[in-house]
Amino acid sequence: MHSPEQESYLREVLSGLKKPQKTLPCKLFYDEEGSALFDQICDLEEYYLTRTEIGIIENNLDEISSLIGQDCLLIEFGSGSSLKIRLLLDRLKNISAYVPIDISLNHLIKSTEALSIDYESLKIRPVCADYSQPFELPPLDVTWSKKVVFYPGSTIGNFTPEQALKFLGRIAGLVGKDGSLLIGVDLKKDTETLEAAYNDKDGLTSEFNLNILRRLNRELGANFQISLWKHQAFYNKEHGRVEMHLVSLKDQSVKMNNNKIFFKTDEDILTEYSYKYGIEEFEEMVSPIFDVQHVWTDKEKKFSVQYLTVK
Ligand code: AVJ
Repeated sequence: MHSPEQESYLREVLSGLKKPQKTLPCKLFYDEEGSALFDQICDLEEYYLTRTEIGIIENNLDEISSLIGQDCLLIEFGSGSSLKIRLLLDRLKNISAYVPIDISLNHLIKSTEALSIDYESLKIRPVCADYSQPFELPPLDVTWSKKVVFYPGSTIGNFTPEQALKFLGRIAGLVGKDGSLLIGVDLKKDTETLEAAYNDKDGLTSEFNLNILRRLNRELGANFQISLWKHQAFYNKEHGRVEMHLVSLKDQSVKMNNNKIFFKTDEDILTEYSYKYGIEEFEEMVSPIFDVQHVWTDKEKKFSVQYLTVK
């Protein structure tokens, strides 16, 4: 509890819970349990995002790999179990090195081990970091022709558009002048499809959302009673985002360290935004920083994979 990391984590949690709209940062979803739940969500029928994105990449591998070119330094933000990168690793020639960046050390270790078995000659240089905060790459013992960031899954949707633009500016700074970004962006679509994806009938998304409270109990000694909370997810059409909340089922208080936090019946904690974009809307947003070189989509235009180069 006295490590500086734990203290800043506690501070971040408490400051979110003291706001008028109580919030918890969505990066807290991804501890070991949460990351495993997320992997299961990706296989759900209702969660079209992962399946669709993989299909798009598979169908366009020739174009994607020729745009990326040879000898690139391939950096992945939020690499998780490093499954999608395999599609690129199988096709790209002479990768300088693969740099997976993830907040979950366990995931990072496991996926690095698995990759180094399947890609014997690949240089892997994992970095454990919270990439939503500014960070620097460690010195690397390799040379490259250009840096390419891979940011799949539409995780960009977790940021508000203003935050997303700032974050993309940091990516541009990291990859530099000749650098590029291969990014997955979920597209605007009907409310029914969107709401089903975040309210699956197996209740996995509910478990994923509630796990954040279990984690605070485990790691910060909080005493959330999980049965007194309910998962809620809906599409906020006006803002173009799916919102996830945890709703208090009664008046209650929760203690955490020396703090006590009160919740009224039906009061909620905001845990995640997942913004959806139109293709033109996304291009306009990134235009101060990036040129959109190519957009690939599926037949139903559910999801997009985009190749952006620094302006
Ligand atoms: C990993 C952030 C893209 O927003 O769809 C899945 C996380 N949340 N189900 C998303 C998530 C609920 C996911 N991202």
